[in-house]
Order: sequence, then C-alpha cells, then structure tokens
Amino acid sequence: MPSIVITGAQWGDEGKGKLVDALSQSAQVVVRFQGGHNAGHTLVVGGVKTKLQLTPCGILRPETTCLIAAGVVANPRTVLAEIETLRSRGVEISPSRLVIDRDCQLVLDYHPILDKAREDLLGDEKIGTTGLGIGPAYEDRAGRRGVRFGDLLDLDSLRPRLEVLVAEKNLMLEHVLSSKLRVDFPSVWSTVTLAAEQLLPFVGNASIMVTNALKRGERVVFEGAQATLLDVTFGTVPFVTSSSTIAGAVLTGCGIGPSAIDHVLGVAKAYTTRVGSGPFPTEIHDAMGEHIRTRGGEFGTVTGRPRRCGWLDAFALRRAIRLNGYSSLAIMKLDVLSGISPLKICTGYRIDGKLIEDFPALNSELAKIVPEYVECPGWEDDLTNLRKFEDLPANAQKYVQLVESIVECPVSLVSVGPDRIESILTPNGRYLQQFSAA
Ligand code: IMP
Repeated sequence: MPSIVITGAQWGDEGKGKLVDALSQSAQVVVRFQGGHNAGHTLVVGGVKTKLQLTPCGILRPETTCLIAAGVVANPRTVLAEIETLRSRGVEISPSRLVIDRDCQLVLDYHPILDKAREDLLGDEKIGTTGLGIGPAYEDRAGRRGVRFGDLLDLDSLRPRLEVLVAEKNLMLEHVLSSKLRVDFPSVWSTVTLAAEQLLPFVGNASIMVTNALKRGERVVFEGAQATLLDVTFGTVPFVTSSSTIAGAVLTGCGIGPSAIDHVLGVAKAYTTRVGSGPFPTEIHDAMGEHIRTRGGEFGTVTGRPRRCGWLDAFALRRAIRLNGYSSLAIMKLDVLSGISPLKICTGYRIDGKLIEDFPALNSELAKIVPEYVECPGWEDDLTNLRKFEDLPANAQKYVQLVESIVECPVSLVSVGPDRIESILTPNGRYLQQFSAA
C-alpha cells in the first residue's frame, strides 16, 4: 500500500508539481484533495512548460489515473479549458484517466464576484486573494449551500435551488457588501449546463477508487495545493486560503482513513517566498530580495504577481513539520542560492527580546517579530547539472545538513533546476527511491 502525501511546507509555490510529476512516474493514481484553481503547478518536461491549476500533475503520464477528490472546489470552465489544452498537446484525456468526485463542489460564476466584492470592501486590509472565488466556494460548502458535481445529474432539481442562490448572492452584494457587482442567472446556468453536458462522464467516486487502488497495492500520490502557512486554521489567519492545506486534509478531502498514508513529504524552497498580503518575518526588502526573485523566476503562475522573497525560515518550517507530521523534506531551488554568501537561516523568533515557542496567537504580535538567524557560507558553482548529493559543493551539502539539524527532519531530496531530471536524492531519500523504483 505505498502512498505518499506531498504538501507545501511554506506559503506555497514550493515546487510541489515537479515532485508529484516525478513520483507519478511510478504511481498508478494521483489525487488532488483540496484547494481549487488558485493553485498553479508548473511542470517542465524536456524544456516544455505545462501549467495546471486543477488537473492533477500526473496527467502527463499516460498510465496514471488522476482524481479530483471531494475536498476540492472545482471551476468547471477551468477543468474544461485544461482538458482542451492538454488534448491539444497530444495528452489523452478520457473518463478512465480523469475522475472528478461526485461530492466535489463547483466554483460557479458568482464566487469570483463575491471574492472581489469582499476584497473591495476590505480595502487596504484586503487578503490579496487570487480573486478566483475559492473562499466564497468553501463558504458555500460550509453553509451547506454548495453545488456538487453529483447535483449535475438532476438539473431539474438544481435549477430552482440555483435561482434562489443567485437571488441571495445579489442581495448579499447589494446590501451587505455594498457592491455594484451583480450575478447574472443565465450565465451561471450556462456554466452549469455546460458542466453537465461535458463533464458528467468524468464524475465518479474518488473515495472508492483510492481505497480500491490501495487494496490492490497500487502506488498513490496525494498532491497538496497551496501550503501549510496558508492553512485556513493553522496558517497566518486571515491571510490564508480557505481550505485545510496540511496532510490531515487528505483524509477528509478524499474520504479515507489515516492508516492509508505511508509517507508525508514536505516541500520547501531553499529560501522563502510569499504572494499576497500577510506577515513574512524573513522577507528581504533590499536588492538581495530582488536578486532571488529574478534568479528564481518568482512570479505567480496563476496571477503573474511578483512573489515576496526572503531567507529560509526554519522556525516556520519546524511548525510545518509538526502540523503535517512530515516523514521527510524536499528542498527545492537550491541552485537559486548559488553565488550568494553568506546565506542566512532563521532559527527562531523573538518578541520583545524573548524567544517564542511557536507563532504568536495574535496578528498584532506578528508585526513585532525579530527573526534570529544563523549564517553559513555559500558556494559559487552552478548546481543544475549535478545529480549526486556528494557532488554538490561542500557548502551546499552543509547548508542542507544544517537545515536538517535545525528542523530535526531528514531531507530526502534536493532540487537543482526546474526540469524533471534536475533532482538529487540524498542519503535519506530511500523511501522516495523505493517509491520511484517500481
Ligand atoms: P485564495 O486562495 O485565492 O482565497 O487566496 C488567499 C491567499 O492564499 C492569498 O494570499 C493568495 O495569494 C494565497 N494563495 C492561494 N493559492 C496559492 C498558491 O497556489 N500559491 C501561493 N499562494 C496562494
């Protein structure tokens, strides 16, 4: 029953897609279990870039079944656009390869409208969402008002329910959010009927499919989106996404139990980035931040926004290790740090001179954090062509080992470039090696 969960250990964009793609080489099933098309995963295969927002990254492997599980909120127009793009690149997409769980919720036309209206109302205090309606879709799910893919089986019952929902949204926009934006029922309905016509063949039962795959001893990769510090409960609330992004979300998002999971892999960049507003204690505000942004190509996959860049925050990483129960870590984009010396790693946070045990409970305290750093010497060499851990420059090896010792979690993989092949398994990478060797 080999199964691996991959989640982001920082604020997102760590390079999870690349690892899911690499591990799906030997996986029979790849599952998205939370989030929506706010996720943007860039895969580079043979120099060709593919950007995916909803379709699990395993889709590029012809033998892999890809599941969009019940914990996801899926915009049907995005799913259809991705199917079309992938088909135009010669990727075969059939209902036997791509399944959307019947309990997965739809992101409908009114969700981005509500997202924008809420952000407008917040003004300078806005969250800086992707504007794609993910928060309002999860609100509807929790409010038991959501539309599920299974509901597309009975459009006659759905239509009057949606009419009421659209009327409610317009009342909300006008009277609560003081917005001039309005929802147009015919356009919502046209999305729903399009989804019913074109996506119903893809609707199935992901919970049963995962359970059966695991019973057959197949390899399953659970692909996280966003990341730990954006978790709706444990992230830097309110500057977070609206889903649970930590490893525990696999269980509630797929409809499986904890014993189904073998290995939990945390993905972290060798430095830290964040998109949107919110606290970021190790952010670099000078030319070094700009240098990392340019070298690392740190611009959002979905929105194109420049990402804020900072030193590796090992204090935050320790929190991520605890929240996810990581078995090992993958350190991505180590190559981006070539030429920078000394490198800094944050080992702790001080408030009013005192080291604190965990992130502060109050947002107001977050602004007072003074990060504590250790420095280590950098290296000059380009790492992209290296494939063995022992071939890395001594200081690059030391940087990885220092991270391991600070966070007390083994590093199993180091990534030195965007392509599938530009990864190095460390001496702690045995599980990943076995998983990939199938
Ligand atoms: P939302 O998920 O669109 O509601 O946005 C809430 C916050 O999560 C914003 O700060 C976004 O920038 C951030 N966010 C959402 N998805 C991603 C992602 O895939 N990578 C990085 N940040 C994300």
